[in-house]
Amino acid sequence: MKHLINTKDFDIQTIEDIFKKAKLFKEHGCDNLLDGKLIITIFFENSTRTRSSFEVAAKRLGATVVSLDVSKSSSSKGETLFDTAANLDALEPDAIVIRHQNAGVPKILSNYINCPIINGGDGAHAHPTQAILDLFTINEHFGGEVKGKKIAIVGDIKNSRVANSNIELLNRFGLEVIMVAPPHFMPRTKNYRNTHYIEEIIDEVDIIMSLRTQTERHSNQIYASLKDYARDFCITKDLIGDRDILLLHPGPVNRNIDIDDFMLADSRCKVLEQVKNGMFTRMAVLEYLINADT
Ligand code: NCD
Repeated sequence: MKHLINTKDFDIQTIEDIFKKAKLFKEHGCDNLLDGKLIITIFFENSTRTRSSFEVAAKRLGATVVSLDVSKSSSSKGETLFDTAANLDALEPDAIVIRHQNAGVPKILSNYINCPIINGGDGAHAHPTQAILDLFTINEHFGGEVKGKKIAIVGDIKNSRVANSNIELLNRFGLEVIMVAPPHFMPRTKNYRNTHYIEEIIDEVDIIMSLRTQTERHSNQIYASLKDYARDFCITKDLIGDRDILLLHPGPVNRNIDIDDFMLADSRCKVLEQVKNGMFTRMAVLEYLINADT
């Protein structure tokens, strides 16, 4: 049984196969490859785009989707996670997509459930499909020539599962990752180039991935106002100028804090393309995991 708990679960060949499939879906549409399959989504943390992306992806492939409303589910009545898992498993789904505020929950559940588990984000640990769709978007932009490209990941890296998954995957595909963050958002690991000053690297990067400040994961308030953060780390028209830089963000974007209005509307910013690619890559991931299992 294959699962997708973190990006390391897929080797380079698998990722390349998924990209080929996603491209096919994007350019030629798809048949009902998951006709008759049941996919359950269970999100213990708020989500707009990841959950809808998975659900639309599954439906486009002809699968039936049941999404558990956690606020109304038995876990809020005291049922343990394991009992919830056992009950889900008894419905014989073909895949379960789970998001949880605690790192490690999808991995633990995968030991108790008889279908592929896809991690839709667990705590600050991993968000593998986000990294896959980001790399797909980068790959598409550079016509497959991503090796040696330099990417600055800017913002709250320490608390970001998106950054964690991207750093692993991008590095494996030969991109050079530069971490740009204030000291309190910089992870302890110093295996990658890092700086507190975006101006230091702006002339050498090909890609900027801006991240949202994860205020809900901070134990105490770090900035009196996010405007103080934005002064040094917002991706603005003045900062980018006429440089040829691909601008990405996993969403949700804090407008004029992470990226300014001008750059969000600029053609170098591919935030909506990421959303579109998210759907196609998730279709490919679902199809791969479910059909590999049968
Ligand atoms: C991210 C997440 O939830 O991990 N968003 C997403 O999945 N598109 C990033 C965030 O919440 O800032």
